[in-house]
Amino acid sequence: MTKGTATGIEHLTEAELLSLLDLEQLPKHIAIIMDGNGRWAEIRGFPRIAGHQEGIKSVREIMTLCGELGIGALTIYAFSQENWKRPVPEINALMMLLEHYLQSEMDALIEKGVRFRAIGRVNTLPPSALQWVRRAERETLHLDKLTLTVALSYGGRSEIVDAVRRLAEDCTKGLVQTEAIDETLLEGYLSTQGLPDPDLLIRTSGEARISNFLLWQLAYTEMYFTPTLWPDFRRRDALLALLDFQRRERRFGRVTPPTPFPSGGL
Ligand code: FPP
Repeated sequence: MTKGTATGIEHLTEAELLSLLDLEQLPKHIAIIMDGNGRWAEIRGFPRIAGHQEGIKSVREIMTLCGELGIGALTIYAFSQENWKRPVPEINALMMLLEHYLQSEMDALIEKGVRFRAIGRVNTLPPSALQWVRRAERETLHLDKLTLTVALSYGGRSEIVDAVRRLAEDCTKGLVQTEAIDETLLEGYLSTQGLPDPDLLIRTSGEARISNFLLWQLAYTEMYFTPTLWPDFRRRDALLALLDFQRRERRFGRVTPPTPFPSGGL
């Protein structure tokens, strides 16, 4: 787990950072908690929604970078179940932004080979936003260069509850035997079914929590926390996060393999 980066490479240009990156060791799936939009706006004396608007530019940039690097999956936390407790005008503005993003970006998503997927209790979205979400899912279903999964009205615990409920229904119908239930089987009932678990989670704005995001899927994920506010998080910041990720040794609970004795030694 890293909080911020202090590796002495922060001053490098984007091209220099890119040249340090090992293109063979990139994460296959990046998940992001895009935090700090409100603060970004408040610091500037703007309404909070201006921060969300600017945050969409970061989404675009990071998505493009993932496409360029061949990172196949990007999952972003756009609206949590808890976010329904925000003031109604902010919720409405976020739903309008989502709708506008999908309307204006649909062609670009298709052109870039991006499959759009939504996870969460998406049916609770306002009808017009939901209609655009479903349309984007339908029209990009055949694309596979990058899967952009947007968590909407999402909560990790609810996702597990929903999965268990569907699994229990299948048991009742006799489609699944209880002895057959294992991690792989349960994973097939999660909304992220078919996606690899994230290798890297990025959370912006200095908070170091996972806030009910992808609770099951983050079991072995590397965490990267940066003080940068989401609207300021752009390509350079993502490259710093990727370089930080590449410095880590991922052991998945194993021990480091012992260094073999040099041949002919002892
Ligand atoms: C957290 O910042 C951010 C959100 C709750 C919404 C994120 C949404 C977007 C970037 C735009 C929608 C995305 C798409 C793909 C259309 P915050 O408001 O909690 O910031 P704060 O902690 O500074 O108040």
